[in-house]
Amino acid sequence: MAASGRPLSAIRVRPPGDKSVTHRALVLGALAEGESRLERPLTSLDARSMAGALRALGTEISPLREGATVTLRGRGLRGLRAPRRSLHCGNSGTTARFLLGVLAGSPLTARLTGDASLRTRPMRRVTVPLSMMGARFDELSGDGLPLIVHGGPLQPLTYDLPVAAAQVKSALLLAGLVGGVPVRLTEPARSRDHTERMLTALGVPLERNGRDLALAPTDRIPAFQTRIPGDLSSAAFLVGAALLRSDGDVVLEEVGINPTRAGALRVLERMGADVTVAARGEALGEPVGDVLIRPSALAACEVSPEEVPSMIDEIPILAVLASRARGRSVFHGVAELRVKESNRLELIARNLRAVGVTAEASGDTLWVEGTDRPPAGRVETARDHRLAMAFAVLGAVRGARVELSEMASVAVSYPTFVDDLRRVTGAA
Ligand code: S3P
Repeated sequence: MAASGRPLSAIRVRPPGDKSVTHRALVLGALAEGESRLERPLTSLDARSMAGALRALGTEISPLREGATVTLRGRGLRGLRAPRRSLHCGNSGTTARFLLGVLAGSPLTARLTGDASLRTRPMRRVTVPLSMMGARFDELSGDGLPLIVHGGPLQPLTYDLPVAAAQVKSALLLAGLVGGVPVRLTEPARSRDHTERMLTALGVPLERNGRDLALAPTDRIPAFQTRIPGDLSSAAFLVGAALLRSDGDVVLEEVGINPTRAGALRVLERMGADVTVAARGEALGEPVGDVLIRPSALAACEVSPEEVPSMIDEIPILAVLASRARGRSVFHGVAELRVKESNRLELIARNLRAVGVTAEASGDTLWVEGTDRPPAGRVETARDHRLAMAFAVLGAVRGARVELSEMASVAVSYPTFVDDLRRVTGAA
């Protein structure tokens, strides 16, 4: 150990920039007045989808390249330009839903589309409340993309969110911000609060009282500079790989540890995982820390519906870890996983079974029986980045013979995943 208590010989990795924080910083940078600078943003396909759409709306954004600081010349809250072509959101639900909110409050017409996966994902959860505010939508294919949005003058909104979804909450807050009207929301459970933290850090009047949230109109938001924390959801795959090693410490540096995102760490602690977080500061309202992981024997877990929003993207890797834990794990209230980049709930269970694990998904519950037999079989990722990464971690277990249908989808959120996984597992 070094004098600071940090292990000297640990493998150290800095995960890529946080996807959620990068999306918000790009949108708010586009809506700010003046030049904003983002250090270490995520540069993956999802982040590029957002940057590309904001450029089509008239924002100057420097190229998203690994290692380069990104600069944006904001157009102000009312300055976006009508796009000359469809806005292509790629695989990114956050891009589509955030833009629907921003465009609802802008006096423009725009068409949004996405890849085959995104086109099947529900959008009415956003367009229904945005219509209550006065925006109009032409559905070209039922409850999903492509959609045409006609934005314009909005009315105030008071709304009970039917699902704890940060993308929906954020879309409505963005509509209120751009449209200059108050928005009052009640969440059924707390979802990630990055939007609220960033708006507050930029001086937007926003009050939180338990599950209630109230945004008041403002005329402008200032340009800002920030360093984007590492993505805890991406880090979670390396945490999983580090726990399943036979020995040696791993440190993941400069990771966002916002408690509304960190539910997986709390579950891992209950499973007996040796994971410690050392706080290291804050960036634009977001706490940042280093995560130290030591290989651990894991016990089964039980996850309750209220905790799920704080670990919504980590259920695939938690399920994989549950398959290596002692006992039977149960994840309650995980139905939202059916409408992610794939039907994650069914595919987690089906793929675990394909590699020899007893697992079942039914209704909104997932059960996983732990085993110490080496996993073997073929996994269908359905081009879902988080399924690919979770099962790649399982495939790195000693004696495993796991074949993945593809790994290219990792570029959606974690372009350097394969190299980082190799570093953590010690594979050549
Ligand atoms: C996100 C919110 C989550 C998460 C997604 C990113 C966000 O979705 O799954 O990857 O940045 O707001 P919900 O809308 O279900 O919370």
